[in-house]
Amino acid sequence: MAERPEYSPGLAGVIAGESAISRIDFEANRLIVRGYDLVEITRRAVFEEVAWLLLYGELPTAAQLGGFQDRLRAERGLPPAVEELLRRTPAEAQSMAVLRSAVSALGVTDPEARDISREATLRKAERLLAKVPTILTAAHRCASGLEPVPPDPELGHAANLLYMVDGRRPQEHAVRAVDVALMLYSEHGFNASSFAARVAASTLADLHAAVTAGIAALMGPLHGGANEAAMEMMLEIGEPERARPWVLEALAQKRKIMGFGHREYKSGDSRVPAVTEEGRRVAAATGESRWQRIADAVEATMLSEKGIFPNVDFPVAWTFYTMGLPIPLYTPIFVASRVAGWAAHVVEQQESNRLIRPNHIYTGPGDRPFPRLADR
Ligand code: SDX
Repeated sequence: MAERPEYSPGLAGVIAGESAISRIDFEANRLIVRGYDLVEITRRAVFEEVAWLLLYGELPTAAQLGGFQDRLRAERGLPPAVEELLRRTPAEAQSMAVLRSAVSALGVTDPEARDISREATLRKAERLLAKVPTILTAAHRCASGLEPVPPDPELGHAANLLYMVDGRRPQEHAVRAVDVALMLYSEHGFNASSFAARVAASTLADLHAAVTAGIAALMGPLHGGANEAAMEMMLEIGEPERARPWVLEALAQKRKIMGFGHREYKSGDSRVPAVTEEGRRVAAATGESRWQRIADAVEATMLSEKGIFPNVDFPVAWTFYTMGLPIPLYTPIFVASRVAGWAAHVVEQQESNRLIRPNHIYTGPGDRPFPRLADR
C-alpha cells in the first residue's frame, strides 16, 4: 500500500502563499502592516489612513487622505435595491447573514461589477468601505422597526458609523474606541476569512464575490463571530464574582471560552492591550465598569487554569457593550474594517495569480462494482 502522505489538520503551520501586506513579529509580539507597527499607528491615526495603507501600500499624504475621506463620504448611500432588501428582510435574521446578502447584492448593482482590473477593484473597495457601515446600521434599524438614519457628511468614518446606529452625535470616547477597533481588525495575514477571499479571487472572481466569501468565513464563532459570542457569555455570567466559578464549570464541561485562544498567538494577541485601554476609557467615561470587571476575572481564570490568553474579539466585545452598542452589530463592524484587508488580499492575489486548489487524502470506501437499481 502507498505510504500515506502527511498533512496538517486545519492547515496549521502550512505556508499557503506569499504576501507583502502584514506579518506577526512573534519576538516583539507586534502586528506589522506594510512595515508599520499597527498598534503604534492606532495611537495617532484614524481608520481611513490604515485602510489607505492596506489598499495602496503606503501611508496617505494629507491631500490623499482628504480626497479619500471625501470619496468615502460621497459613497455612503445605498442603491434602492439594496435598501429595499434590508427593509424586506425578516427581523429575526442573523445580522451577518443580512450583511453577507446585502454585500452580494451590492455586487449585482455595482457599475464595475465585471471589471477585475486592479484600478476597478480598488474603486470598488472604496465604495464597499463607504457602504458597509450604512448597510449594517440600516439593517439593524430595519430589524428593530425603525427608519435607517441617513449618513452625516460632516462626520468622519467611525463617528458616522456610530451616528447611524441611533441618530445621536456620538461621544468622543466612543468614536475613538470604534476607530481603534476598526484599525486593529483591518488585517491579519492568512486568517480564515482572508484566505477564503483569496481562494475566491484566485478563480478570477470579482471583489464583491471575494468579500462575500470573506464575510461567510468570518461569521462563525471560531473567527469573527466570537466577539458577539463572548459578550453573550459575559451577559450569562452577569456579575464579576460569578466569573471564576462560571469559567471553571465551562472548562470542566470542555466548553470553549469565546474570545480566548488563537491559532498564531500563544502568548497573547498583540492587539488586546490597545483595545483594553480604550475599553477602560469607555468604562471610566460612562461610569459602567461591570463588564470590564467580569472580563478581568474571566481573563485571570483562563490564564491561571489554562494558560490561554484573550484574542482581540474579547476586549472589543465588552468595550462595545459598555458604550451601549447592540450585540448584533459587533461582527458586522469587524466586516466594516476587514473589507480593507480582504481587498488588499484580492488585489495581491490577482496580481500574481495561480488558482488555489490543494489536494486531499481520500478516506472513503474502496472501489466497488455499480449495482443495478433493482439490486440495491
Ligand atoms: C479571530 O486567524 C486569525 O488571525 C483570526 C483573527 C483575525 O484577526 O483574523 O485574529 C480573528 O478569529 C480571533 C479568534 C476568535 N475565536 C474565538 O475566540 C473562539 C474561541 N477560540 C478557540 O476555539 C480557538 O482558540 C481558535 C479557533 C481561535 C484557534 O483554534 P486552534 O488553533 O485550532 O486551537 P485548538 O482549538 O486546537 O486549541 C488548542 C488547545 C486545545 O486544548 P487541547 O485539546 O490541546 O487540550 O487549546 C484549547 C483547546 O481545547 N483551547 C481552548 C480555547 N482555545 C483553545 N480551550 C478553551 N477555550 C478556548 N477558547
